[in-house]
Amino acid sequence: MRVYVSRRYHLSASHRLHAESLSADANREAYGKCNNPYGHGHNYVVEVTFSGDVDPQTGMVADLAQLDQFARQHVLARFDHANLNTLDEFSGVVPTTENFAVVLHGIFAAFAHPGLEKVHVEETENNSFDYAGAGDWPGGGTL
Ligand code: NI
Repeated sequence: MRVYVSRRYHLSASHRLHAESLSADANREAYGKCNNPYGHGHNYVVEVTFSGDVDPQTGMVADLAQLDQFARQHVLARFDHANLNTLDEFSGVVPTTENFAVVLHGIFAAFAHPGLEKVHVEETENNSFDYAGAGDWPGGGTL
């Protein structure tokens, strides 16, 4: 039996989309207003999904109180009200929400539950991104 559990977190952060490897013109063309020098903010919704057996004793797939504590410590404390461009995770990596989803997946993979399925990040009402692992991190390292 496999049951899926998802939990949502809200955080606000700013970013500027700018690739060092592209010219100023190419950056403006690729990112439009998102390339403006002073950046802009989003109210992100981060939804993480785990799956697994229902524990016969607790009736639960994952301990959400422990997950909340983990998310507060490793996600909200780090990214809420941060400028993503200034963080080590995005050194040499454009802080698009695609890449943010990859970073968050790497963090949630360290939570003490083996069944991480995916991370879903909503950037706006109309944009959302999902990462389910198994990809190569564009910064060159592994998370
Ligand atoms: Ni943006």
